[in-house]
Amino acid sequence: MKYKTLAQFPEEFLWGASTSAYQVEGAWDEDGKGPSVIDARESYPEGTTDFKVASDHYHRYKEDIALFAEMGFKAYRFSIAWTRIIPDGGGDINPKGIEFYSRLIDELLKYGIEPIVTMYHFDLPNALQKKGGWSDRATIDAFEKYARILFESYGDRVKYWLTINEQNMMILHGSALGTLDPNLENPKKELYQQNHHMLVAQAKAIKLCHEMLPEAKIGPAPNIALIYPASSKPEDVLAAFNYNAIRNWLYLDMAVFGRYNTTAWAYMKEKDCTPVIAEGDMDILRSAKPDFIAFNYYTSQTAEASRDDGSDTAARGGDQHLQTGEEGVYRGSSNPHLKKNAFGWEIDPVGFRSTLREIYDRYQLPLIITENGLGAFDQLEDGDVVNDDYRIDYLKEHIKQIQLAITDGVDVFGYSPWSAIDLISTHQGCSKRYGFIYVNRDEFDLKDLRRIRKKSFYWYKDLIASNGETLD
Ligand code: BG6
Repeated sequence: MKYKTLAQFPEEFLWGASTSAYQVEGAWDEDGKGPSVIDARESYPEGTTDFKVASDHYHRYKEDIALFAEMGFKAYRFSIAWTRIIPDGGGDINPKGIEFYSRLIDELLKYGIEPIVTMYHFDLPNALQKKGGWSDRATIDAFEKYARILFESYGDRVKYWLTINEQNMMILHGSALGTLDPNLENPKKELYQQNHHMLVAQAKAIKLCHEMLPEAKIGPAPNIALIYPASSKPEDVLAAFNYNAIRNWLYLDMAVFGRYNTTAWAYMKEKDCTPVIAEGDMDILRSAKPDFIAFNYYTSQTAEASRDDGSDTAARGGDQHLQTGEEGVYRGSSNPHLKKNAFGWEIDPVGFRSTLREIYDRYQLPLIITENGLGAFDQLEDGDVVNDDYRIDYLKEHIKQIQLAITDGVDVFGYSPWSAIDLISTHQGCSKRYGFIYVNRDEFDLKDLRRIRKKSFYWYKDLIASNGETLD
């Protein structure tokens, strides 16, 4: 639909940006922090750094937050490292971990920046992983205990909570993300059991949040990307339907309606990986109601009919945003109408609008975008200049589509792209940069880690100051 006039961004729109603890903080074993599954990895992809120092945000958060304030952020989405709060995941509380995030939240509030807290972003405590991680039902209780501590410690100041970041990507692409336990005997079966346990843990956290903090709002944070059929061939359309169900709606249907998506359940039955559902689980899942949906969007995806000749899985990319495939279900396909970024991810701003509309039509809950952005090999030029015009273009085109979606009637209350500041990519090192602020380090040379405002920093600052009016 083309409009004569576009709706304005709401007055209280939460402009901001995002990070996650293990990708930005560093200080991986300081002040009593326990190791997470990310710290315990035996190796990292060749040529890429580990996460020990990252962007050293743990020591420089004040300087970083001052820069966020300079950009005019209304909100900042960050995650709390479970292993700083409870080093072994289920036992004693680490007071220094509690204090760190308390100081960080106070620093944000000092500038009037709304904290949006992700409770768990890929970094499960390794002590829990050693006991089976999410395969073990006890991890549900550990998460509930952790949630209670977060609500008690920060509930007086944090109004927006996100449960689990990209649970769907951990299930579908855990190996690229470094969250998959390589020792699982029957990975698919166990992963869907883990998925069920995470869904129950999420529901418990939502209920607890509502009981303890009636004024707060809480929601899930999956990665949602609309799947296009590669053609109008009915079999391609059906394949896209399959993949949409497995990748997207399985997660949101459960979070919002408390029921397994029908197609996703049929898929799990066919693949012999339906989870064991304990007595009472469905009651918990049905009774937990999120206040909003947060979602991450980088790219759309395209699917065609499975060829079912053994070659669908071979088409799988090794990455959370590349086209995948599965025998008898769908085959990943590339979209000839879209350009790709330097890492092969297709760039699709219009698909973003369609995704916003589809999520809102299905669930009728307010939406916030908690990730969106462009990874690129930024170059630091003489005079501390970073000309990241490509990032400005990407963000601008996507934000325009949010405005169109708002005009379509979609209730969007915030935009928090990835990432506030340069940090370490999940599996492609620190040379793949996303931030508005450049961090001066290389993969293996920490240099001085100084902060440098990129061109996109100034552009975003103006955009926020005008509440989106400088888009054109
Ligand atoms: C999302 C994750 O999948 O994509 C982030 O929630 C991640 O943690 C982001 O960093 C970008 O992906 P990558 O692989 O380039 O770091």
